[in-house]
Amino acid sequence: MVDEFERRIAALAGRRFAVAVSSGTAAIDLLMSELGVDPSWTVIAPTLTFIATVGPAWHRGAKPVFVDCDASGCVDLTLLAKALSDARRERRGTKSGGILYIGVDLYGRCCDHGAIAALCRRHGAVFVNDAAEAVGATWNGLPSGSAGFASVYSFNGNKIFTTSGGGALLTDDPGVAERARKRSQQSREPFPWYQHEEVGYNYRMSNILASVGLAQLAKLPRILKARARNRAFYAARCRTLPSVEGENNWLTVALLGSSAGRDALLSRLAAANIEARHVWKPLHLQPVFAGCRTYGGAVAERLFETGVCLPSGTGLTSADRRRIAACLGDDGTESAR
Ligand SMILES: Cc1ncc(COP(=O)(O)O)c(C=O)c1O
Repeated sequence: MVDEFERRIAALAGRRFAVAVSSGTAAIDLLMSELGVDPSWTVIAPTLTFIATVGPAWHRGAKPVFVDCDASGCVDLTLLAKALSDARRERRGTKSGGILYIGVDLYGRCCDHGAIAALCRRHGAVFVNDAAEAVGATWNGLPSGSAGFASVYSFNGNKIFTTSGGGALLTDDPGVAERARKRSQQSREPFPWYQHEEVGYNYRMSNILASVGLAQLAKLPRILKARARNRAFYAARCRTLPSVEGENNWLTVALLGSSAGRDALLSRLAAANIEARHVWKPLHLQPVFAGCRTYGGAVAERLFETGVCLPSGTGLTSADRRRIAACLGDDGTESAR
């Protein structure tokens, strides 16, 4: 089941290889291991993302550098260019480590992978794409997960399709795939006994979860349609994060005019027993990352202060959507149309 799931996921991502593991975080960790990320590396990431984007690099001693987004939630390319060129200048003469940009396709909307890859090339940086939220999305007609040196999907319970918990590392390089697969299984050597020449991890996806993933894969077109239906419904009733061509509509973000408007909407939804979430709190505002260098930050802060992730599940019925719409209402903010 795992082998078949890997073949199907690689095809979905337009990659030669997929390595199925226990979570998206595990896949990122395997990539950090492959690159040999350590304190000598400069690891750059968008600030508007989940902590798992940078967690594995942090555990290897690399202090992240954060970059703001634009109004669509995609990385601000001008600020990214500045971060990369500063990193290159500051590293001049340094032999160890390298520059890594971990790009994120926020809420299932792909950033400009072509421009990011070109910037990374120009500045000698490795581009890894955290497409955890972007399964089923496309950029310029290419599948999410096909960009960069390698990329990552998450099949966590909250994602567009799920194996309850799981993830995949995607690459075109047979060596990267082989090493990641081996490391995900305690780096066991091909001996009749347990033989190890390096210390690995227990990250392999189980056969049972892979079979759940195969069943989910067959449903992906229906899932994407249901998510798009949710988005169209909301977009007709409130101001949302601007659409990006090819996005998978994992989550729809309503934009209110103020943090008071955001809180009022969250309260109305909670009073109706409807779960909704804050937008990711930018990582540069997280206490654990206090003091990390940040390029810009105000746009991500504003999205955090004024955004609400609306219920966006595949199973939402039209009755559910009507209940939610009754809470969107006119709250005197720019959310009302
Ligand atoms: C952007 C991003 N990166 C990484 C992850 C980590 O994935 P997982 O929860 O499968 O470890 C997630 C989701 O949880 C995510 O949203």
